[in-house]
Amino acid sequence: MMPVGPLMIEHRLIEKMLKRMQKEVDRIEKDKKVDVRFIDLAVDFIRTYADRCHHGKEEDILFRELKKKKLAPEHEKIMNELVQEHVFARGEVKKLVAANELYAQGQKEKAGEIVSLIRGLAEFYPKHIKKEDKGFFIPVMDYFSRAEQDAMIAEGNEFDRKLIHEKYQKMVKDLSEQ
Ligand SMILES: [Fe+2]
Ligand SMILES: [Fe+2]
Repeated sequence: MMPVGPLMIEHRLIEKMLKRMQKEVDRIEKDKKVDVRFIDLAVDFIRTYADRCHHGKEEDILFRELKKKKLAPEHEKIMNELVQEHVFARGEVKKLVAANELYAQGQKEKAGEIVSLIRGLAEFYPKHIKKEDKGFFIPVMDYFSRAEQDAMIAEGNEFDRKLIHEKYQKMVKDLSEQ
């Protein structure tokens, strides 16, 4: 297996969730009502799974190791774009959290913003994923030896193992401080 194998499998779940989110915005537009709980779940998915778990393994392991290599200009360019795109996604999710909170507090006019933010994310992610899957992940594997790839796979597994503890330790800490 290649270290990008698990990342490509994770892309499939992200795509599935985005489809579900798109279905939800169609429903919001029809019923003129936001399900605040659904948006909370979608935000948790994007923040914990797509960003912390998935982008985390991309940036903290794969990209970190690629930065140690002498990259072809095209690969360096794509990697910088991918990092910028992760930053963009984080910003959009932050806006979604804020809009959802205001909606929950009674600002019903925030529904339109919620719809357009989700539509934006649903448009952004497949392009980002395609760029990684089709034009980056496989070609950049050539920079690594088998041993280096195996070390990245092991580190990715350890990264995943720690996440569940990190998530719930933070949740208890936040609740304890309230
Ligand atoms: Fe990415
Ligand atoms: Fe990705």
